[in-house]
Amino acid sequence: MKELFDLTGKVAVVTGGNGGIGLGMARGLARAGARVVVAARDAAKSQEAVDELRALGSDAFALASDVTDEASVAALFAGIAVRCGRLDILVNNAGIFLKKPPQDTLLAEWQAVMETNSTGAFLCARAAYPHLCAVGGGKIINVASLVSVFGVPHAAAYSASKGAVLQLTRSLATAWAADRIQVNAVLPGWIDTPLTHAARQNVEGLNDRVVARTPSGRWGEIEDFEGIAVFLASAASDFITGAAIPVDGGYSVQV
Ligand code: NAI
Repeated sequence: MKELFDLTGKVAVVTGGNGGIGLGMARGLARAGARVVVAARDAAKSQEAVDELRALGSDAFALASDVTDEASVAALFAGIAVRCGRLDILVNNAGIFLKKPPQDTLLAEWQAVMETNSTGAFLCARAAYPHLCAVGGGKIINVASLVSVFGVPHAAAYSASKGAVLQLTRSLATAWAADRIQVNAVLPGWIDTPLTHAARQNVEGLNDRVVARTPSGRWGEIEDFEGIAVFLASAASDFITGAAIPVDGGYSVQV
């Protein structure tokens, strides 16, 4: 029987992987045996993440990268090829949030959100493709959102960008299935990360509303993303592609 969850010998890159959900996924991949590349902008924060991943047994390293910059993305994948000689797994996790009513959203704000969340995922997937083909296939995990499928009044740009990530996931899945590349999306619910810290502290009642509305009765933690990352990065999910998997404690299935 093939080893379902073993990532020994595999190379994985996680964008924005130096904190939050990306670091949670990176930990899972490292524990399963992958060599993890942390692709992010803050060098000091990336080094801390690398130290942690190395302590888990991964021969991890960091490469500075801005997913909105085509040249930076090209340099990232060229750097991985030089350093590792292969790439098996891409996690498109880098993302930014904008809380603003649609009528007040500036064009520059809209574009910044779309460029990071949607265009960034496209640029990285496109750059990863030849490397994944070169090893006979691979895995792409896109971090989308519950608002990829649900409306949200105060974050139209963000939800539009995450809707695009979900449709990108489905289209890449169909385009690259014959190349043995599986492309899936993870839809996080309310997760305790730097992205939600401010809202949790500043929006009155938010913390209690999330806890009350979530069947599991708590916020998600970054540890909740280790298992899904290993599953979608490993042979265990070889016949699953184009899927959108909520990681939300049941938030999206309760009226
Ligand atoms: P976070 O803010 O800790 O992580 C986002 C990471 O992306 C950071 O490391 C940030 O520096 C990086 N990043 C942003 N722009 C970048 C760029 N241009 N190039 C490279 N890296 C860049 O927040 P969190 O929560 O861990 O977010 C991770 C992903 O999960 C994001 O895509 C976010 O939209 C998504 N998400 C988070 C939810 C939550 O409740 N925390 C809910 C649904 C989705």
